[in-house]
Amino acid sequence: MAHHDPLIATDIKAYLDSQARKSFLRVFTCGSVDDGKSTLIGRLLYDSKLIYEDQMAAIERDSKASGTTGERPDLALLVDGLAAEREQGITIDVAYRFFSTDKRKFIIADTPGHVQYTRNMATGGSTADVAILLIDARHGVVEQTRRHAFIASLLGIPQVVVCVNKMDLVDFDQSVFNAIDVDFRAFADGLSFDDIMTIPVSALNGDNVTTRSDKADWYKGPSLLNFLEETEVDRESLEAPFRLPVQWVNRPNLDFRGFSGTIASGTVSKGDEIIAMPSGKRSRVADIILHTQHLEHARQDQAVTLTLEDEIDISRGDMICRTDHPVDIADQFQAHLIWMDDNALFPGRQYILRSTNTSVTGSITALKHRINVTDFSEVAAKTLELNEIGVVTLSLSKAIPFDAYSDNRKTGAFIVVDRLTNRTVGAGMIDFALRRSKNIVRQDLIVDRTDRASQKGQQPTVLWFTGLSGSGKSTIANLVDKALFERGHHTYTLDGDNVRHGLNRDLGFTKEDRIENIRRIGEVAKLMSHAGLIVMCSFISPYRAERQMVRDLMEEDEFFEIFIDTPLAIAEDRDVKGLYKRARAGEIKNFTGIDSEYQPPVRPDLRIDTTVTSAADAAEQVLDLLRSRFRLDDPKLVMRDGGGI
Ligand code: ADX
Repeated sequence: MAHHDPLIATDIKAYLDSQARKSFLRVFTCGSVDDGKSTLIGRLLYDSKLIYEDQMAAIERDSKASGTTGERPDLALLVDGLAAEREQGITIDVAYRFFSTDKRKFIIADTPGHVQYTRNMATGGSTADVAILLIDARHGVVEQTRRHAFIASLLGIPQVVVCVNKMDLVDFDQSVFNAIDVDFRAFADGLSFDDIMTIPVSALNGDNVTTRSDKADWYKGPSLLNFLEETEVDRESLEAPFRLPVQWVNRPNLDFRGFSGTIASGTVSKGDEIIAMPSGKRSRVADIILHTQHLEHARQDQAVTLTLEDEIDISRGDMICRTDHPVDIADQFQAHLIWMDDNALFPGRQYILRSTNTSVTGSITALKHRINVTDFSEVAAKTLELNEIGVVTLSLSKAIPFDAYSDNRKTGAFIVVDRLTNRTVGAGMIDFALRRSKNIVRQDLIVDRTDRASQKGQQPTVLWFTGLSGSGKSTIANLVDKALFERGHHTYTLDGDNVRHGLNRDLGFTKEDRIENIRRIGEVAKLMSHAGLIVMCSFISPYRAERQMVRDLMEEDEFFEIFIDTPLAIAEDRDVKGLYKRARAGEIKNFTGIDSEYQPPVRPDLRIDTTVTSAADAAEQVLDLLRSRFRLDDPKLVMRDGGGI
């Protein structure tokens, strides 16, 4: 088993050739905290004699210091690379280990079992051939086991090997093992694994890890390593259609133009007829370059540069395919989504969606249902919390090339990124495209926005007033409206209290409803700006993300965020509508500033401190802001009385 091939000393080339021919297995490990994953992997490496002596000496020293395994070396220290996790005793990132035996090469992704770290599981598991799932023999199948098995199945990992660990602590009792085996298989029946294997092990002592143990003589199957060496892997992705997501257009001089990227799936050969999506332009492969080599063929996972016979326009984010199997293009999807952030998912909110090589903004238009991982039932839900899984529909700002995840685990996957924090908050798998968007084509209007604006002699503008209830937003917005109106401008005011009597009558004050409130108002304000109007919008609009969303809807220099900065104590003291009093008394729930959050703007276009500014002066400041932006020599901006605002 130990991998000290004599060829290394005698014929290094023959050794390397033999290595290159060996098949490759991608393994992914998961389990709850303390199930012993790291120890198991450490044991695999240790028993395969793949640990360097200096590393071993360091581990023996550290084991004595951390003292969790007494006199024996703590093998988890081999794998738990990060200082933080050593201190906390949990694994907090994906660690990749490479090792090989005479039969096979392995990459093991060790992913954390702590409840909060589903995110790493989605990253580490998406390309794996086999999932190792650890179960503590004393605890059996727990909620976390179900969740991890469900995610592994959702990620399309074809095989799962369940290591029932810590068998030494239950005296290698066959009935304990059998009960877990039956329990797990009954559960996993509803999942999409091709193959399920269960093995009784003790990672700590090495039983059934690399060699069969006689302590469980009732067990007739292979050791874990044996199983990993022998199991058949279905490398369908090589047969999957060719996909090269273009990461870079390589153009060192006018004579060379290459398209670089890592082949996501399939193979390509010189002379193949290709199609670039979404443009649909066709050509043939002239050359395939890998570093400095020219290849006849290339396959999945190779980072190559293709040159083509024709000069066709391909840019970063496009996908090169063979003409026989092009990718699909769509901007609306149904997908499975795993949520992995402390802040819950909110349908309607704009996120960034990143796929193999493109990044677009989009929103989750509907959460169809949440999935209960214990019995796979569909549960109605308004949001997804940390670690929850659901089926959603998505709408993107532009169409992207894609495959269904069930056809292609790379081009069918995406991650969801929060626009403000830049954190990865979800991982998704595309089920299929929704074709709705194709049937609704924008109708070109003969009279456009510019015509309407110039007829009115003004620059369409959205003045967005944000601040607490009772901060003075509406009062100031009204004064600005009046001043503009009197100067002959075409204006309109949208106000929270008014709109909530009509268009948004169905909305309350939960986070979801407020997000929807602002989304609708953003769309209305956009229509009004298209009509050439100057629109005052006066809404608490407590969340940065939605204010940003409205800004993004508008043209550049059309949207101004005006923060009416009134401290809570002062707004509450004024309590014009008597609502603060009622909120304090518990009669109104989710009241902004009391039991619902307000996120003040970080960089507003204008901040008005109402503790030192009168409403009239505040309105004047808003008008000054407009004057400073509008160039009065531009005929479109000359106001009706000829004197500007
Ligand atoms: S927003 O948060 O969704 O932007 P919006 O501006 O439309 O709120 O409506 C706020 C107005 O609704 C407040 O000025 C207040 O008069 C009233 N209101 C009633 N209940 C609440 C509440 N729970 N939180 C805040 N405002 C409330």
